Amino acid sequence: MQSYDDVITSKGFLSDLKALNKTIAQSLTKAGLPVIINGNVCYSDKDEDFNKGTLSSLMEPKRKALVAMAQRSRCFVEVGIAGGHAVLLALHANPDLKAIGIDLAVQAKPSWPRVDIFVPAATEWLLKRFPDRFSFVKQDAIDGLREVASAPAFGPVDMIHLDGGKLNRMDELAAIWPALAERGYLMQGDYKNGNVRASTRAMIQCGLAREVPEEDLPPMRHRTFKVVEIGPSVLAQSVRLQDFRGKRVLLCTAHQDDELLFAGGLLSKIARKAQVHVTCFFRPMKGRADSDTRIAAMQRLCAEVGVSCTQYPFAVEAPYRRLRRYIAQDDTDGAAPVSLLRPLESHGLYPTLLETAISTLRLYEPDIVITHNPVGEYGHLEHIFLHRTMMEAARRANITTLLTFGAGQEHRAGLSVTYDTRRKKRLFKHYRPQWDGLKMYDFALDPERFVREPLFPT
Ligand SMILES: C[S@@+](CC[C@H](N)C(=O)[O-])C[C@H]1O[C@@H](n2cnc3c(N)ncnc32)[C@H](O)[C@@H]1O
Repeated sequence: MQSYDDVITSKGFLSDLKALNKTIAQSLTKAGLPVIINGNVCYSDKDEDFNKGTLSSLMEPKRKALVAMAQRSRCFVEVGIAGGHAVLLALHANPDLKAIGIDLAVQAKPSWPRVDIFVPAATEWLLKRFPDRFSFVKQDAIDGLREVASAPAFGPVDMIHLDGGKLNRMDELAAIWPALAERGYLMQGDYKNGNVRASTRAMIQCGLAREVPEEDLPPMRHRTFKVVEIGPSVLAQSVRLQDFRGKRVLLCTAHQDDELLFAGGLLSKIARKAQVHVTCFFRPMKGRADSDTRIAAMQRLCAEVGVSCTQYPFAVEAPYRRLRRYIAQDDTDGAAPVSLLRPLESHGLYPTLLETAISTLRLYEPDIVITHNPVGEYGHLEHIFLHRTMMEAARRANITTLLTFGAGQEHRAGLSVTYDTRRKKRLFKHYRPQWDGLKMYDFALDPERFVREPLFPT
């Protein structure tokens, strides 16, 4: 791996820097404008004739961090590419790196340098110089990031530099999240700004980001920037079993028995260490062998385990006919992605479920919420319905930690909980003989898994 000094003084970088600066300067001069651009990793803000000066010393820590990130990454996405200086340095730091730049390239305020002139010139130069390693999206940050996420041209994204606007960094992270590699770096530019700092703190609190471990890296923080690690594996590792101690935990299930099948082992393990409450949202439908015994079975089970529980009266479990018009999930094993055929808001039950969920979260103020997962574990449409409801309720009630059951999402990293299987087996007695989950579900005594969902507060 080349050192920072090797990269920054290499002939290749210096001659490309000279050519890029010349292109930028010519574009502005041709338009009858002074040679002034935005601050960037190489030059200070609005430094007239920057192309004739030397590299800014204030920005050296940021350049060093950028080189270190680039050398450990494969796909770099930058919001606010401006004159392309950060991209150029990153591409020189790692010949295997590819980069996507996003910029509005519109002079949104009169005080801004003429990004409408020099950004197109700089990005055209980069496209010609790195035809297979660079692409450009002329868009506002969030739309551009969504576009990249919907068709990631260079594979999973493992390096991001947010350096455009300062107000929407959490939304920007949400927009690119689906395209992230399991783990990557996020460099927050303009770290002096209060909104940028607050959004970084919120990302860490929601488990979306964590401090970079002090490995063999240059300082990853300075008044001008901060680097954090992001991605699904960061989120997955943010919850450990010991984190349940002393916490308020709310388990939200669709049906009686879900508490046992998906979380019976965990409940037994944490009942004495945490304050745990189970809420069940659907009453049993008529005509089941256990229609009249299920609620009492759940209540006995919770009493034995030592957790409290509530059965809500508003919704009744129903055959799928109605929900099939809303939720498409072809694979009964739950592996197929779920899509919505029409907005859930128009389903008659949704407003009641959502209000109940929000009120429940406000009443219990849980530190940790656990519920069904995006694929309904094995494709169960009411599980998917409640999952979506709980996600929306959690966002509205400012919940930061929401875990979903692991069944059906084995490919996602999560917290694995082993437990006393004989004890869990015994708990099935409460539902027998009318219902025997041990016979019906082969995963019933496997280790239980819980996956933390990304929640992006706005
Ligand atoms: C400080 S400069 C970026 C410097 C560059 N990252 C570097 O270090 O070489 C800010 C850039 O962000 C762009 N920008 C500002 N707000 C934006 C937004 N909402 N969406 C996309 N780009 C934006 C501006 O057009 C400008 O080019």
